[in-house]
Amino acid sequence: MSQSISDKVVRNSSANEPFSAILEKNLSRRAVTRGGLGAALAAMTGVGLTACGGSGGGGFPVLPPAPAPAPAPEPPKLKLGFDSLPPSMTDACVVPAGYVAQVLGAWGTPLNDKAAPWSKDGNNSSEDLLNSTGMHHDGMHFFPLQGSSTEGLLVVNHEYIDEKALHPNGPTQVDGKRPAEEVRKEINAHGVAVMHVRLEGGRWAIVKNSRYNRRFTSATPMALAGPVGRTDWVKTPFSPDGTQVRGTNNNCGNGTTPWGTYITAEENWAACFVNTGTLPDHQKRVGVPTKTGRYLWETAAGDRSEQQGEFARFNVTATGASATEDWRNEVNGFGYLVEIDPYDPGSIATKRTAMGRFAHEGAAYGNPVEGKPLAFYSGDDSRFEYIYKFVSDAKWDPKDATRTDRLAVGAKYLDKGTLYVARFDADGKGVWLPLTPNAAGKDGGKLGDKYKTIEEILINTRGAADFVGATPMDRPEWTAVHPTNGDVYLTLTNNTSRNATTGTNPANPRLNNVNGHIIRWHDAADSNSFQWEIFVFGSNADADADTNRSGLTALNQLASPDGIAFDDRGILWIQTDNGIDGGRNNAVAKATNDQMLAVIPAPLADSKGTGPAINKSNQAELRRFFVGPNEAEITGFAYTPDFTSIFLNIQHPVNWPAYDNDDATALPSGKVRPRSSTVVIRKADGKPVGV
Ligand code: FEO
Ligand code: CA
Ligand code: CA
Repeated sequence: MSQSISDKVVRNSSANEPFSAILEKNLSRRAVTRGGLGAALAAMTGVGLTACGGSGGGGFPVLPPAPAPAPAPEPPKLKLGFDSLPPSMTDACVVPAGYVAQVLGAWGTPLNDKAAPWSKDGNNSSEDLLNSTGMHHDGMHFFPLQGSSTEGLLVVNHEYIDEKALHPNGPTQVDGKRPAEEVRKEINAHGVAVMHVRLEGGRWAIVKNSRYNRRFTSATPMALAGPVGRTDWVKTPFSPDGTQVRGTNNNCGNGTTPWGTYITAEENWAACFVNTGTLPDHQKRVGVPTKTGRYLWETAAGDRSEQQGEFARFNVTATGASATEDWRNEVNGFGYLVEIDPYDPGSIATKRTAMGRFAHEGAAYGNPVEGKPLAFYSGDDSRFEYIYKFVSDAKWDPKDATRTDRLAVGAKYLDKGTLYVARFDADGKGVWLPLTPNAAGKDGGKLGDKYKTIEEILINTRGAADFVGATPMDRPEWTAVHPTNGDVYLTLTNNTSRNATTGTNPANPRLNNVNGHIIRWHDAADSNSFQWEIFVFGSNADADADTNRSGLTALNQLASPDGIAFDDRGILWIQTDNGIDGGRNNAVAKATNDQMLAVIPAPLADSKGTGPAINKSNQAELRRFFVGPNEAEITGFAYTPDFTSIFLNIQHPVNWPAYDNDDATALPSGKVRPRSSTVVIRKADGKPVGV
């Protein structure tokens, strides 16, 4: 997400307790050294998913002890097989020696014959966009077809738009109104793309006209499931029974499920709406604007071509006699995790309201254990917002992983459960606070006294988290779960609003946190407590020791960690969004473009303190693998089952990629019309990436 659409306003006025003093005590108590990352082997010898299903031997007869099994052969050590890259500040992608990279599915690439080819003059229509890849690629996942590593469905979020690049000469208005065709084009440039992709002759390409190819936009009808669906909160003229809403907006990070579906996260959706009347608290708390929506979509209302209030719905001011006579509830249909079944082209995207309503950055599930509930973790990316965990009522049945009615499986696990919010304590422990009517408030009382029903709690998720005393964080972004040991990692991208007045807390210990950090914790799905520590602090290499607490060097200095993902081998990939589109305004941005780094972390269980796990003794294990073009964020991570192709996204470059015909002077600025795009990285010898 570019700084241009991030919500910079601090909307959390709950004054949940700062913990600065306690943290400093904690840091001084604990040594910040670690035993190095040599313990990575342990991470690879943990039990795999299928081995996690044991339910104990209760009821079986006691047998004599079996002879000791022969020791298992030691698995090969997982090691990074590339040298850390130096910084780069060019309009190019940089990969290690021996690697190759290609652009795939840049904004406006046709998915079928209904779309005209992308126009370097910005002349594509809204219909073209409905049948092409969208703009500003973000979260992503590769779903193999029949287990293939050369053919699959690449599902990509399109987070937001660059209006200047989208239209020939930027957005226009006529008498204060946006033209309907421009607004439809912008709406269709948002959302999610499902692309059937195939590797042929050493290059990946979209299989045009495949039945799998489809687009979800900010206008596609979607189901509202879970406790909020069918309630008075979401009844609109379009859906008087509250079962549907049109569109998904500002889809940032993503997640997947153990049953093979995709989850897209709605992040900065609130600013697409406007309420010029009296805002209810929940709209204030998420930041619904009071003058105009971000792109003035609401001003196209009344156009002769308008269908079912397709533009009017972005103005959520209460003007009618009831909720089905105006669009006051439209905004309540946004702010969710949305489940998509990419394998079924006829399926309906479904908003899973039980998982909370906020600026969802993404979602990651804890390693499933047979007979235990499932846990999904999700950060709320805004200053001083919170980290959440959704725990299913249903207990995991491994047979559900291979069912083909995948959205029914989603309903089983994602529509009923409990939403929790995290409190990080100074002793390296943390507590998951339930957001249920009986939950105790931090200042007394019951959450049910403030919000009467579970659906009211969910609509007001942030307010509920304030009430129970969650820990305000430095902009929680993506979450990743280690494939075997289950440690959970979450990026805290930065928070320049953390100052002497707001204070610090154990999990967010730096004032004016321009560089961000990564936190990790360990829990079980059915555990209300967890162990945590800081994994790495972002910093420029030449900062003082209080800033550069992880001892980073020129070869791995980083700021604003955002995307984060494990591959199934246990390599952790870290991506940055250092916001240099606003100018190279921090020391890391002055040194390098945004990047992706890799590290093989030792388990949290091996740690002795609250971190940082990456420190002077081992920081050389954190290696820069990729550097992107000028002003672009690196985000989204996917890979083929055999690890020979990895996919990442270049979002909001300023002068990249060059056109096929090498015409680099299409714009008066002398620069190309920039296109966000997926980049595929392979080894020249075709072997697995990273090792
Ligand atoms: Fe869309 Fe929080 O990044
Ligand atoms: Ca970001
Ligand atoms: Ca992000």
